Amino acid sequence: MTGELSPIDKAKFVAAKRAAEMVEDGMRVGLGTGSTAAWLVRCLGDLVQNEGLRIIAVPTSSRTAVLARDVGIKVVSLDEAKWLDVTIDGADEVDPDLNLIKGGGGAHLQEKIVATASDRMVVIADASKMVDTLGAFPLPVEVLPFGWQSSQALIEETLVSMDVMGRRSTLRMNGGAPFMSDEGNYILDLHLKRIGNARQLALVLNQIPGVIENGLFIDICDTVVTGYGDGRVEVRDINEGTVEKDKLEFAEADNLFTDLMD
Ligand code: A5P
Repeated sequence: MTGELSPIDKAKFVAAKRAAEMVEDGMRVGLGTGSTAAWLVRCLGDLVQNEGLRIIAVPTSSRTAVLARDVGIKVVSLDEAKWLDVTIDGADEVDPDLNLIKGGGGAHLQEKIVATASDRMVVIADASKMVDTLGAFPLPVEVLPFGWQSSQALIEETLVSMDVMGRRSTLRMNGGAPFMSDEGNYILDLHLKRIGNARQLALVLNQIPGVIENGLFIDICDTVVTGYGDGRVEVRDINEGTVEKDKLEFAEADNLFTDLMD
């Protein structure tokens, strides 16, 4: 059955499985959003149901909340948890300093709030997410629906003085209507191609009226777990300056794949 998984799904799975091993009994855990984070939620659900792991979790989207409850994880709000031991989430791009672009799933507002309310953020990703410079992936910016076109014009004007290679932005759509975040806001995707100074851009974008939050995560991620299609994983910790290599097997995870294969 596991043979039917694509190499990219295997890579996401092994990254998620390795990160799940970092979660200890009694921890308060932030759960990210996206296809890689969904693997993590399944791995943690397996540990909760079959290994007696006791955790409470704060999801970063309504989608993740539904999945977490489905797999038997106790879900609370961030205000109930107050502070988290670790948040584990996916990313759209990861640079060598572990700065990130997130928000491809439109959940970066909650993801940033939850990650920064955690002792540690662990990112799980397949190797295709590792980049030398951020920006090939369009940068998501969550904006208030009120006056969003004025906000868009201001963003594009601001980009003229930023160290970026493109300035075009598009309103994210869902079918024929604007995509709406869990908070009821719109997402503008900025097609920047290359971001020369991500730290500066992250600060400047959030000064624009109507901008709620951008998808640049600067100095937030502590550890990245990179997965490969052959089961290899690499754990890089920016604080410790360490890189650990490992290889995981797929066979033991058959039960996690069952409903994905239907
Ligand atoms: C959700 O808004 C995003 O930040 C995701 O974490 C990111 O898009 C990665 O998603 P995948 O794991 O599906 O690639």
